[in-house]
Amino acid sequence: MMDSVFRTRSPGTAAEGVRDQYADGRAAKVWEVFIGDKKQRTQNYRDFLVGLLRDKECHRILDVACGTGVDSIMLLEEGFEVVSVDASDKMLKYALKARWERRKEEAFDNWVIEEANWLTLSQDIHHLIEEGFDAVICLGNSFAHMPDTFGDQREQRQALLNFERCVKPGGLLLIDHRNYDYIIDTGNIPAKCIYYNSQHETTIKASVLFVSGKPAIVTLDYMITLDDAEDEEIREHVSEFRLSYYPHKLSVFTNMLNEAFHDRAKHIIYGDFKSLAEVKHPGFYIHVMEKSI
Ligand SMILES: C[S@@+](CC[C@H](N)C(=O)[O-])C[C@H]1O[C@@H](n2cnc3c(N)ncnc32)[C@H](O)[C@@H]1O
Repeated sequence: MMDSVFRTRSPGTAAEGVRDQYADGRAAKVWEVFIGDKKQRTQNYRDFLVGLLRDKECHRILDVACGTGVDSIMLLEEGFEVVSVDASDKMLKYALKARWERRKEEAFDNWVIEEANWLTLSQDIHHLIEEGFDAVICLGNSFAHMPDTFGDQREQRQALLNFERCVKPGGLLLIDHRNYDYIIDTGNIPAKCIYYNSQHETTIKASVLFVSGKPAIVTLDYMITLDDAEDEEIREHVSEFRLSYYPHKLSVFTNMLNEAFHDRAKHIIYGDFKSLAEVKHPGFYIHVMEKSI
């Protein structure tokens, strides 16, 4: 693992680093390879997500960062009703293809997929919200894609408020982020991959960009061994890709979430799907917000 720390005094460029990273279709293509077979979600992850949703009697789920559709497909296969949205048409292309290929299965025939942005979510999908979803999920370190253009996290707060609006009273929001406290402190990234069972060997190198002494962007360089990739283009051109993220500190993100739920939600934080007492340096934190009735 590489540990890099960059420091800069020019805040103007920081937000640009986390914008529209899937626009040219290249990251979408490699992401599809990186996550591997969509059936190969780790058992811990499947058990955690499906178990929690069933325990809370959730049935209608909104996946606000569906990407290529990996979580949504798992939930459809487990019998949930799913509405999936994402801002990137390049990512959605893969979800739409999966829906078309499995359209003869009722769950897939009923699968709603739309383009929507978190900043305008409640307007973009107002026709689908009804009385609110039983659960909203934003997983796979997705929320850290949201930049902080104005340096006061107002866009992130707005997006969280929009998520809260989509949850019915008594419903859930599940949202995760990498352990950025650990990445910032050590320059390293915990090696384990809790979500994907990719058959490809992947190394992830982290770099931290500081702006005026504060961590502003974490860049992850994914290096994937693709010897057996069938697609000539992937094999030749895209064995490496880079994504940049806003580095959410656990305490700050916890407060932002509580605020979005008007300090009235039950809030439980898990580390790698376990209670925080059980895992010392989790790779991911998963927040579960239960909206008050
Ligand atoms: C890392 S991918 C994860 C996708 C999927 N959840 C998974 O685990 O494979 C993050 C996704 O968040 C989406 N995203 C980022 N910012 C967004 C925004 N403002 N509104 C909607 N989607 C956004 C990206 O387009 C991308 O598909």
